[in-house]
Amino acid sequence: MMYSTSLTPFHPSKKRNIEPGNKGEMAANNEMKSVSASGDQVKFEQEFGHKSLLQTDALYQYILDTGVYPREPEPMKELREVTAKHQWSMMATPADEAQFLNMLLKLVNAKNTMEIGVFTGYSLLATALALPDDGKILAIDTNREDYELGLPIMEKAGVAHKIQFKEGPALPILDQMIADEKNHGTFDFIFVDADKDSYTNYHKRLIDLVKVGGLIGYDNTLWNGSVAAPPDAPLNSYVRYYKDFVLEFNKAISFDPRIEICMLPVGDGITLCRRVI
Ligand SMILES: C[S@@+](CC[C@H](N)C(=O)[O-])C[C@H]1O[C@@H](n2cnc3c(N)ncnc32)[C@H](O)[C@@H]1O
Repeated sequence: MMYSTSLTPFHPSKKRNIEPGNKGEMAANNEMKSVSASGDQVKFEQEFGHKSLLQTDALYQYILDTGVYPREPEPMKELREVTAKHQWSMMATPADEAQFLNMLLKLVNAKNTMEIGVFTGYSLLATALALPDDGKILAIDTNREDYELGLPIMEKAGVAHKIQFKEGPALPILDQMIADEKNHGTFDFIFVDADKDSYTNYHKRLIDLVKVGGLIGYDNTLWNGSVAAPPDAPLNSYVRYYKDFVLEFNKAISFDPRIEICMLPVGDGITLCRRVI
C-alpha cells in the first residue's frame, strides 16, 4: 500500500508529559507546537494531514458529509465546535471514529466502561450517549481543565451522571483498581487514547479489568501510517518518537492468546481486543 506522509493523521496525545531531559520528545513536541500554537487547523492539516488513513482528503470529506455530520447528535456537534477552538484541537477523536464507537457500544450492550485519555470529552460523550441511563464511564485524564471545557455540554445532554472523572496518570489508578479483586472482569468496554508509550503497560492491567467477552479499543495503532513506513520515510519527529512504542505494542498484542484482535483503519487506526480467557 502506498505510504503518504501528507494524507495521514497526526495525534499529539502526549503533549503534557515531556520528561525533563528527554530531548527527542521535547524536540518532537516543539515541532508540533510551532504549527498548533497558531490554532490554525488548516495549516496544521496541510503540515500533518487529517486524522484518517484514507487515500484522499476528498474521500474522507465525503464520509463526513454523507454519513457522519448529518447524523451527529447536536451535543457532539457543539462539543466538536468548542474543541475546534482549543489550541490542541487535533487531539480530539475524529467524528467518524466517535460515530463508530457509539454504534459499537450499542451493539455490545455496554454498560460499565472506562476511557483513558479524555481531553475535552468528544469520545467520552459518544460513549455516554450510547450507554443506558444507568451506564457508567470511569474517565481518566491527567488534565481536568480540558474535561471541564466539555462538561457543561455533557450536563446539558443529560449524560453527565454516567461519568466519573478521575484526574491523574492512568497507571497508578489502574494499579489501585487491580489491587481490589472486586474490580477484576467488570468492564464491558475500555477505550485507550492517551500516552502511546504506556499502551503495553496499560494492556497488562486492563486485561484483568475487562470481562471475558468484553472489549478494549486501543486508539492510534496505525500511528500516522508510520507502522508500515520504510526506515528512510520522512516522518516528523513526533511521529518518529512514538513509532517504536506503537510497533512494540502492536506486536505484543498480536501474540496475546487471551484476546482476539481486529485492527481497523478508522481514524488513526483502532485495534479492538476481545478478551476470550
Ligand atoms: C488524544 S487525547 C484524548 C482525546 C479524547 N479521546 C477525545 O476524544 O477528545 C489524549 C489525552 O490523554 C491525556 N493523557 C496523557 N498522558 C496521560 C496519562 N499518563 N494518564 C492519563 N491521561 C493521560 C492527555 O491529557 C490528553 O487529554
